[in-house]
Amino acid sequence: MNNPKIAIIGLGYVGLPLAAAFASKYEVVGFDINTKRIAELNSGLDATNELTTEQLNKVVGNSLKLTTTLEDISNCTTFIVTVPTPVTSSKSPDLTPVVKATESVSTALKKGDTVVYESTVYPGVTEEVCVPILEEKTGLKFKLTFL
Ligand SMILES: NC(=O)c1ccc[n+]([C@@H]2O[C@H](COP(=O)([O-])OP(=O)(O)OC[C@H]3O[C@@H](n4cnc5c(N)ncnc54)[C@H](O)[C@@H]3O)[C@@H](O)[C@H]2O)c1
Repeated sequence: MNNPKIAIIGLGYVGLPLAAAFASKYEVVGFDINTKRIAELNSGLDATNELTTEQLNKVVGNSLKLTTTLEDISNCTTFIVTVPTPVTSSKSPDLTPVVKATESVSTALKKGDTVVYESTVYPGVTEEVCVPILEEKTGLKFKLTFL
């Protein structure tokens, strides 16, 4: 994988530090649906206190672009999904954010690209829920890669 352009989908406790870490070496786009979160981060404030203003300012606007505009991930080649997996009132996993994030990734996915799911899911979700969405929306075929 030479010089991947990385998209991080979901910039919470997990996604933001990951985006900043990758941005020390690669070009990264951080996408989140929460406009307040993106505005705060772009002004140097991380409400989760994972990153200091200094750490944010080092990468934001340089190697790290933070956005709520889905088109901004269109020329990325590696997609890392870090959206939440809450549980419903009946204690079953609510996969809605993972499904929505997968649909977002499918708008940008090209042959040879890599998709990583870092969200916590039960066994089988990637192959049985996410991959069919990616395949159906893109017409591409899934190939499992062991890193
Ligand atoms: N694999 C690991 O090492 C590891 C470790 C800890 C947590 N996790 C998992 O990572 C996931 C994220 O955890 P967190 O603590 O960062 O959550 P969080 O709630 O702090 O952040 C999630 C972010 O995703 C955004 N989001 C929600 N739906 C979205 C969508 N459709 N598109 C784009 N952004 C969206 C939210 O606005 C929020 O900013 C959870 O599933 C958690 O269990 C994984």
